[in-house]
Amino acid sequence: MQNQEQDQPKGKNTFTVIDNRTGKSYEIPITQETVKSIDFRQMKESPSDFGTMIYDPGYYNTAVCKSQITYIDGDRGILEYRGYPIEHLAENSSFLEVAYLLIYGDLPNMEQLNLWNTKIMNHTFIHENLIQLMKSFRYDAHPMGMLISSVSAMSTFYPEANPALAGVDIYKNKQLMNKQIFRILGKLPTIAACAYRHRIGRPYNNPINSLSYTENFLYMLDRLSESNYKPHPTLTRALDKLFIIHADHELNCSTATMRQISSTLVDPYTAVAGSAGALYGPLHGGATEAVLRMLEQIGSVENIPAFLEEVKQKKKKLMGFGHRVYKSYDPRAKILKSVTQEIFNLLGKNPLMVIATELERLALSDSYFINRQLYPNVDFYSGIIYKSMGFPTDMFPVLFSIPRAAGWLAHWVENISDPELRIFRPRQIYLGRRGMTYVPLENRNTEPIPSTLSSYASGLSSRRDVSEVLYSFDESCAIPKTASGSKSQISQSIEQSFGEKLSL
Ligand SMILES: CC(C)(COP(=O)(O)OP(=O)(O)OC[C@H]1O[C@@H](n2cnc3c(N)ncnc32)[C@H](O)[C@@H]1OP(=O)(O)O)[C@@H](O)C(=O)NCCC(=O)NCCS
Repeated sequence: MQNQEQDQPKGKNTFTVIDNRTGKSYEIPITQETVKSIDFRQMKESPSDFGTMIYDPGYYNTAVCKSQITYIDGDRGILEYRGYPIEHLAENSSFLEVAYLLIYGDLPNMEQLNLWNTKIMNHTFIHENLIQLMKSFRYDAHPMGMLISSVSAMSTFYPEANPALAGVDIYKNKQLMNKQIFRILGKLPTIAACAYRHRIGRPYNNPINSLSYTENFLYMLDRLSESNYKPHPTLTRALDKLFIIHADHELNCSTATMRQISSTLVDPYTAVAGSAGALYGPLHGGATEAVLRMLEQIGSVENIPAFLEEVKQKKKKLMGFGHRVYKSYDPRAKILKSVTQEIFNLLGKNPLMVIATELERLALSDSYFINRQLYPNVDFYSGIIYKSMGFPTDMFPVLFSIPRAAGWLAHWVENISDPELRIFRPRQIYLGRRGMTYVPLENRNTEPIPSTLSSYASGLSSRRDVSEVLYSFDESCAIPKTASGSKSQISQSIEQSFGEKLSL
């Protein structure tokens, strides 16, 4: 690009854009280092054109809102909630205090904090019908699936909180808004604990509202028949710190999902369930789980160089490394390293830590990772801490979702109170066919079914496929009643007519 600095008038907060197709010049205002994409729509070759769009898959460089909640400087490794450095909050604050800060914008005074704590802890019990629903899951259901479904089901318990039933404007009422915040923050640990107890086949525990937030959570997870069970204070504090550093991270994928879903004004339970769904993915909250599995697969320090070689050949990914925003050390990973030590002092060192430390050392001295600015992110160490604390791997995304709900709710409040909010509806670049003429079924070509439709057969289907068919199938199987012989013969003939092996 040619630098025409000398020729341009200085001091104006605009870009001058020249459309070389038409020779027209446009002046685009710049506000807060940002231009509005809609200002590009006016640039068109002919009046009937749609106009210019901004293409940004994965939202690499697109701001979708103005926010005052969380600040990240990815190059310098800075993270602040409402202006407060994460290191200070992790050191001095409690999770619920941080949740208040995120949602309401300021640190609470003593009276506000007491009221806030009481309100949240008075909303920890869940409806008996919700407990029944949770009990109906399979004995080995992934706790994250149970959490997502249960939070979604919560919307059915509070019709007055559902804009679809009670009206689109209901959240102009701040009391109603607060009530849902108390419920979601209060009940999430209970749902998470029930999901965990379900998985390990133990009866669910009722919450104890006089305990602190994380103390009560650990109590519900671990109490057996004791009347005075109390989790160890080091574990409670460690969990509090973990919850604080996971509470918000501006527009990460699940929070962007919260913004997207709540832009429709749907109820907050459905929006939180959707956000938790986004968090579950292995590139986001599921990365903690994936890091642990990766470290277990590497198995020992000697295998690390070979593993890194595969990563560099793009056959594998170094989970827990890299971040869309941080191009230096993730400040949360630093805090986690100190928490790790506290947990190891109490419960003993996790052998995976040796592999993780060496993996980090080798990766950080390798040009592949240096050139791409890939550093450990929060998930690299949190999995080892959770594992050392005795949590099963599939609880990791659940342990992430509880604190992140505070961030989601802060963004929910900010989003639906934003006068500039519009329903999220991106554009696409359509590259498909147009104007096709409908061809009746009998006139279509007889080319074989493409391999894109193939699947695999379950053990059950394979067993059934080789078995005799004693009775002809009914119409629902779409096979003529006259068909007879072994099921595999029939499927073979169907497959032949499709021309390709189809495993259904
Ligand atoms: C977090 C993550 C999704 C960010 O992705 P992104 O911003 O789209 O970054 P990109 O995929 O464009 O990565 C840039 C380059 O680094 C490489 N890279 C990024 N993360 C990598 C990783 N964990 N291991 C190996 N290579 C990685 C990419 O292959 C790409 O290389 P290329 O330039 O040769 O194509 C990505 O770093 C990742 O998948 N990390 C592992 C999962 C994880 O830990 N997630 C938790 C995040 S808190």
